[in-house]
Amino acid sequence: AAAARELASKAATLDELKQIMESFEGCNLKATAKSMVFADGNPEADLMLVGEAPGRDEDLEGLPFVGRSGQLLDRILEAIGLDRKSAYIANVIPWRPPGNRTPTPHETEICRPFIERQIALAKPKVLVTLGGPSAKLLVGTQDGILRLRGGWKSHVTADGTDIPVMPTLHPAYLLRNPAHKKLAWRDFLEVKAKLRELGSL
Ligand code: URA
Repeated sequence: AAAARELASKAATLDELKQIMESFEGCNLKATAKSMVFADGNPEADLMLVGEAPGRDEDLEGLPFVGRSGQLLDRILEAIGLDRKSAYIANVIPWRPPGNRTPTPHETEICRPFIERQIALAKPKVLVTLGGPSAKLLVGTQDGILRLRGGWKSHVTADGTDIPVMPTLHPAYLLRNPAHKKLAWRDFLEVKAKLRELGSL
């Protein structure tokens, strides 16, 4: 992770960061992935969403959240008056793990400097983490996502900026557990209220 941190710190823009990540050889997941999935949406947006890792559809298209989870995410965003042009979307891990397995803690740590730099450069006013791994990494807790979701936490960037974080359930989890959609709905209403408060909506 030291090599990745050194490289990531050299990126002055999101485009530079993307190029640096594309030439990074320190993560084994790159060998089996078809593409690197960097981001979608608007990097100028006040809201940034961070998922876990690309799945099959994302790997084929090179964009985050374009499969079934992404369709649900689009509907959730629409419900709070947003869309992909008013949010910036990325993942903790930019390469698809084989067979969509959960990234190992080692892989997540290797990629950590990249997503942290991506957040610092995009400078969102509000962050939403989708699922447990993203929440644990960016909020720095070991609590499970069902405990963590629904309450504001914070992510402090390397330059000391404190960004409010709403941890919520992952759309793929909601597809498997539709009864929990009402919890995610509550979380996104909190996000909407926060964006209103900040004058972003
Ligand atoms: N799940 C994620 O966490 N990210 C994606 O981009 C797609 C599915």
